[in-house]
Amino acid sequence: MLIRRAPDLKSSEITTESQYLNRREWIASMGALGAVTAFPSIAKALGASPQGQDPKPIGTPMGLQPNDTPTPWADVTGYNNFYEFGTGKEDPAENARAFKPLPWTVRVEGMVNKPADYQLEDFLKPHKVEDRIYRMRCVEAWSMVIPWRGIQLSDVLKRAEPTSSAKFVEMTTLFDPRRMPGQNSRVLDWPYVEGLRLDEAMHPLTMLATGVYGRTLPNQNGAPLRLVVPWKYGFKGVKSIVRIRLVDRQPRNTWNLSAPEEYGFYSNVNPEVDHPRWSQASERRIGEFRRRPTLMFNGYADQVASLYSGMDLRKNY
Ligand code: MTE
Repeated sequence: MLIRRAPDLKSSEITTESQYLNRREWIASMGALGAVTAFPSIAKALGASPQGQDPKPIGTPMGLQPNDTPTPWADVTGYNNFYEFGTGKEDPAENARAFKPLPWTVRVEGMVNKPADYQLEDFLKPHKVEDRIYRMRCVEAWSMVIPWRGIQLSDVLKRAEPTSSAKFVEMTTLFDPRRMPGQNSRVLDWPYVEGLRLDEAMHPLTMLATGVYGRTLPNQNGAPLRLVVPWKYGFKGVKSIVRIRLVDRQPRNTWNLSAPEEYGFYSNVNPEVDHPRWSQASERRIGEFRRRPTLMFNGYADQVASLYSGMDLRKNY
């Protein structure tokens, strides 16, 4: 992902993790001098909270390890993958600033008894909103701990009443190159699409997030609605969703279409199956220097391993 060489993707456009870290160290030293607060525009550009203070991480810790602490707001909202707003890690925070996520329509369709177009408020209204702190692992071998706010995808699906033919769920990002300038480049096949098997989608850990740190989801994190599946690599977490479709065949997913030998449909976090170009055995938590061992299913094995019993997880990567 990070070092993919698309014909129109200049490597100079991509912020690497080390560039980002150098910048963060510089910010930390400036912060020590009070410079970030003295120059609010710097703080803003770097993803500091709009109120100038880091919000408190709220939510029920789920599947966290003893040494897991929430990743700072500035990293959660300042180091992003959202190619609709650029391929560098700091591009989404910068380029999505003008994006207006509301009003927003979500269509639920396909193999359901109750297809509908919902305004976001009506889509969310009947469902319980929860704050949950999850471990998140990117396929690029970095990780974060994020306090999400959202609803369970299972509640949305039950409301739509899937028919007995429905076996998978496909979710699609908005396609609007005027509002999402990255879609004017051919770096990916737009719109971004992801999918889950129906039992994965119905799992109680699977969320549709509407917020982070107890606040409305920032644009760069996928406003107003994005998928969160904590035992899978981050690319499953499709952002700015406009369509949820129940289908009977495994949906195509964007990164698999782009590089099938590198990114599978399942994308389960698995320290034993390396990416063809790098190891998945360990990861770096954003904000730390040491590496940590990567955990099977990102630490959620007790809850999800049974979904894959009998499957060859080397083949189904
Ligand atoms: N969704 C869309 N529409 N476009 C993207 O480029 N990137 C994915 C995923 N969802 C992406 C997307 C990847 S690779 C990751 S790691 C996560 O979003 C990052 O989510 P975050 O920026 O909120 O941490």
